[in-house]
Amino acid sequence: MRLSVIGCGYLGAVHAAAMASIGHEVVGIDVDADKVAALSRGEAPFFEPGLPEFLREGVASGRLTFTTDMSAAAGAKVHFVGVGTPQQRDGYAADLTYVNAAIDALLPHLRPGDIVAGKSTVPVGTAAGLAPRVAETGATLVWNPEFLREGFAVKDTIDPDRLVVGLTPGHEEAADVLREVYAPAVAKGTPFIVTDLATAELVKVAANAFLATKISFINAMAEIAEVTGADVTQLADAIGHDVRIGRRFLGAGIGFGGGCLPKDIRAFSARAEELGRGESVAFLRQVDEINLRRRDRAVLLVVEGLGGQVFEKKVAVLGAAFKPYSDDIRDSPALDVAVRLHGLGARVVVTDPEALANAARVHPQLTYEASRDEAIRDADAIVLVTEWDEYRRELSPEHASSLTSGRVVVDGRNGWDAAAWRAAGWRYLGMGRP
Ligand code: UDX
Repeated sequence: MRLSVIGCGYLGAVHAAAMASIGHEVVGIDVDADKVAALSRGEAPFFEPGLPEFLREGVASGRLTFTTDMSAAAGAKVHFVGVGTPQQRDGYAADLTYVNAAIDALLPHLRPGDIVAGKSTVPVGTAAGLAPRVAETGATLVWNPEFLREGFAVKDTIDPDRLVVGLTPGHEEAADVLREVYAPAVAKGTPFIVTDLATAELVKVAANAFLATKISFINAMAEIAEVTGADVTQLADAIGHDVRIGRRFLGAGIGFGGGCLPKDIRAFSARAEELGRGESVAFLRQVDEINLRRRDRAVLLVVEGLGGQVFEKKVAVLGAAFKPYSDDIRDSPALDVAVRLHGLGARVVVTDPEALANAARVHPQLTYEASRDEAIRDADAIVLVTEWDEYRRELSPEHASSLTSGRVVVDGRNGWDAAAWRAAGWRYLGMGRP
């Protein structure tokens, strides 16, 4: 099928490449000429495992092209809209500038029978507002949210947990077209939920609100553990055995960040307020607050570990990305911890396998070092803030001891074996662990 994908960021570029890989003819459209040029050469403009291979194959096959010219969308049967919906500068609500601009630019190129499938995460009610404008062209608007995780985006796109299509009653045929688009996943028996526009929009924000709440729940338990001597990691293991609870997303530490969870829970709060139901999701403010407090806690542990002040002490910060397998530093708790330590006068050296260039652009005041071992050489303290394998699995306390001058580690992700570090003579400080 001929498809267009409007917006070639983390979501759109992966979607375009994944759709080409399953046999569709796809044009990706973005306003950023540099990004389009890179993608056209088969190069990923950001780090995402597996994406470069898919891009190269798609471009080489001729089925995947990229352009800045919106008229290239004409002739596609389905137009996916995957532009960003960042947090507004002066508030919590989502900024819909890019969604509105994408729809405005797309409208003149739509033909009767086309389907516009919104993928961006939008405040509930957005699609109902856009649908009449799309309908005027004879095309149909559906909402088809995306649940991909960075780092696993290609897999999540080709083989998702579920597919959700929201539509206006009377336009059920649009769901059949999307079944064809996602034929390999549908053939595998992937749950395919057809619903209304509002539910489809809400499914996405509700899923992210739930995940954020789960993380902040366990981080709240970490705060209680800290004043009682309990161990939150054992607590998480124990409650996680209950299948109704489940162990995933019960990783206590410095909390969540990234381009989705923080801004999505804030936008949800803002939208609920507009709808007169602010109290229904008032807990999301606390979810946000708990999350941000954990960054303070990590900084405090470094200060405590170094005897009360960090001024001119060398602190090696392992990680800058908001999570491993990503170079994304948007709202990164890791980088936030580094910035705060720098603000306290520590000589902070940040290392990360993928995110240093992005981090340096936003925080040029920090010192960056690509080599893990150089970053920790002569350090007074080490802080683990992004659980890349080369830090969490591959850095042994013995090896660290051969490089550093101090013997203090703060494990911001509860990723290390506390007993092993202590046995090697280190002062180990975890998050919600004795
Ligand atoms: C998230 C959702 O998982 C995805 O479905 C949605 O489409 C987009 O938002 P992503 O932002 O890629 O995906 O990251 P995710 O893997 O969910 O992690 C989010 C943050 O939570 C990271 O900073 C991670 O370090 C943190 N986290 C995750 C924890 O602190 N503890 C955990 O147990 C799990």
